[in-house]
Amino acid sequence: MQTLLKELPRDLDQKRLPRHVAVIMDGNGRWAKRRGLPRIIGHRQGVDALKNLLRCCDDWGIEALTAYAFSTENWGRPNEEVDFLMTLFERVLMRELQEMMEENVRIEFVGNLAVLPRSLQTQIARSMTLTKENTGIQFTVATNYGGRQEILQAARAIATQVQQGNIQPDEIDEALFSQHLYTANVCDPDLLIRTSGEMRLSNFLLWQMAYAEIYITDALWPDFDRGEFHRALSNYQQRSRRFGKI
Ligand code: IPE
Ligand code: IPE
Ligand code: MG
Repeated sequence: MQTLLKELPRDLDQKRLPRHVAVIMDGNGRWAKRRGLPRIIGHRQGVDALKNLLRCCDDWGIEALTAYAFSTENWGRPNEEVDFLMTLFERVLMRELQEMMEENVRIEFVGNLAVLPRSLQTQIARSMTLTKENTGIQFTVATNYGGRQEILQAARAIATQVQQGNIQPDEIDEALFSQHLYTANVCDPDLLIRTSGEMRLSNFLLWQMAYAEIYITDALWPDFDRGEFHRALSNYQQRSRRFGKI
């Protein structure tokens, strides 16, 4: 089955694929609970789903994938779960870096990274530096990311520039503002996918999502496979993106 889907499914139009796909990987806990397993097993399984999606995007010719791994609100979870996730991120990075290099992936992390555990920050910095010149898929991982926090830090940076007399207030336009966001070097998402049925943004890419097409599936994140992604893309290609026009 997997080999059959290695190439872009025939019913999809190569020319009308989203350039940038963003995913809210939700439902790891529920996936585990349904199996009578601890939530952390769901997170571990979720890593495999993400790996598979990254490879699929690469195979099918999608330029950029952004995944929501940890929100600024997720610190409110029990300590054991937060600790497990931080350790998981670090281990996965160490384990997968070599393969990402071989596959020409450019990995970037967005969010308030400075407060993450030191050892995780080290792995993040290392992976970003090493893959910086790669020319394949742009893979962005939102870690300790919050849309409002991102907008606030951009506003502060711009205010400082104004205060120093480097720019005038009326020079602040959408392009300049975008340049101060974490996502300055990637286009806005064309398609947002959220798994496990929840119909909310949960503080993800609030500015960038202004005109994203939203696709919500009941599938839980660890079950999100190529077949599910195929369905999301088919649905996307049936939409008429008007951007306010008629
Ligand atoms: C998403 O799955 C993963 C993270 C937020 C890190 P959840 O952990 O939110 O799973 P549910 O929503 O409780 O099922
Ligand atoms: C959103 O999922 C955050 C991530 C997927 C990292 P949550 O499970 O934290 O979102 P809510 O609490 O249902 O809004
Ligand atoms: Mg959730």
